[in-house]
Amino acid sequence: MDASLLANLAAGFEKVLKPYGEDFQKFDHLPLQGMDREEILELMEEFKEIEAAQWQDGFLSGVVYHGDTAHIDFMNRVYAINSQSNPIHPEVWPSISKFEAEIVGMTANLMSADQTPDEIVGTVTSGGTESILLAMKTYRDRAKENKGIAAPEIIAPTSAHAAFTKAGEAFGIKVIRVPVGADFRADVAAMQDEITENTIALVGSAPPFPHGIVDPIDELSELARQHGIGFHTDACLGGFILPWAEKLGYAVPVFDFRLPGVTSISIDTHKYGYAPKGTSVLLYRGSDMRHLQYFSVSDWPGGLYITPTFSGSRPGALIAAAWAALVSIGEQGYLQAAKRILETTAWLKNELADIKEIQILQDPLFMVVFQSETHNVYQISEYMSQKSWSLNELHLPPAVHLCITQRHTQEGVRERFVEDFKSAVEFVQENPQAPSGIEPVYGLAATIDTRTMVKPVLNWFMDLLYRV
Ligand SMILES: Cc1ncc(COP(=O)(O)O)c(C=O)c1O
Repeated sequence: MDASLLANLAAGFEKVLKPYGEDFQKFDHLPLQGMDREEILELMEEFKEIEAAQWQDGFLSGVVYHGDTAHIDFMNRVYAINSQSNPIHPEVWPSISKFEAEIVGMTANLMSADQTPDEIVGTVTSGGTESILLAMKTYRDRAKENKGIAAPEIIAPTSAHAAFTKAGEAFGIKVIRVPVGADFRADVAAMQDEITENTIALVGSAPPFPHGIVDPIDELSELARQHGIGFHTDACLGGFILPWAEKLGYAVPVFDFRLPGVTSISIDTHKYGYAPKGTSVLLYRGSDMRHLQYFSVSDWPGGLYITPTFSGSRPGALIAAAWAALVSIGEQGYLQAAKRILETTAWLKNELADIKEIQILQDPLFMVVFQSETHNVYQISEYMSQKSWSLNELHLPPAVHLCITQRHTQEGVRERFVEDFKSAVEFVQENPQAPSGIEPVYGLAATIDTRTMVKPVLNWFMDLLYRV
């Protein structure tokens, strides 16, 4: 990638990520006198006014999964009531422990805990990534304790979330990534070929983030069971929608504790569970694994100390909000929401099916994923972003997706998407040199060593966010 392309890309990022420039007061030191509370609230209202339209009006892929004003107001009240709470002091806030235990219980039963003789236990974590990191660390510790494995390996399809690689880096686990098949599902035979005496767990997703197609969890978990190793279902994205899809009669492959080989599941309350950001649930088959996850010390001058997850103090208010989301929405609420989302997805796939320049994947239940044999999908996505849409640009191979949420089930949103999408395809057809946004970076990642060339670009991007 030449320097001018990079400079253009950088300028584009700066425009989007640092739009407030000098128009608003900046703080790189504490103000001497505290700022007036009303002034702060006004400032935040102003930012909200600028930023909310895009997610409220359904221009985002995923990200805000519910977003109705009454629900948000309710969540905010729950947060406010519980804002001081911290479950590290359960004697002070036993209500938060009760909420957490019940979130785990409700989620476990959603994952068919009541259909297995085994005990299903879990904890609430801060998000999908923490759930995945904790699960992988637990498998590492279990394999070390039970089998003396010192050089642990996990096997994951290429489509499994980046957090598995993060877990590998953090905990000294080799993560073997196995290419998915032509249908974007995990390749069971290829994963089997990678199993060694150091393998501690296999991974599958229900569904993976990129293409939204559920892996063959039944075959993979059975493979793991036969080898006496763990199997983690990553249902961070799909866990709170696929069970309702199944109830509604959609074809959903079994991915939960009904499969005896599934030994852990991550499932995010802060996605289709409609809780505010900051909670996920990690479930295990058997309390032995949860014990391995707990951290405790008995010889610290601060006293006896035990925590269930990576954090010490935790925001009890977010646990309260997740609990309140679950019990206020209830089975019927989730079912109705899922129905609207699944019908909107099917409608969109149908409307876009006869655009010959692109191919829409038919399998994903709550995503519209498109590829093209003849056109540059990043140009289409870039045009869509000029129309306020923010789609997910995928690579290896190039594809783009829209993850459908309740925001897209509002009146007029799906029609607007189709209209803008058709004009995007037309525009790219007529302007083969149209800008293509992220493509140069993806081009780099696909052709050369990402560590030497792409990491500095990503580091620059992250540093930009931290610039005052
Ligand atoms: C399948 C899947 N797993 C894990 C994650 C990570 O979740 P989080 O961003 O909450 O850490 C995501 C996020 O989109 C996901 O889609």
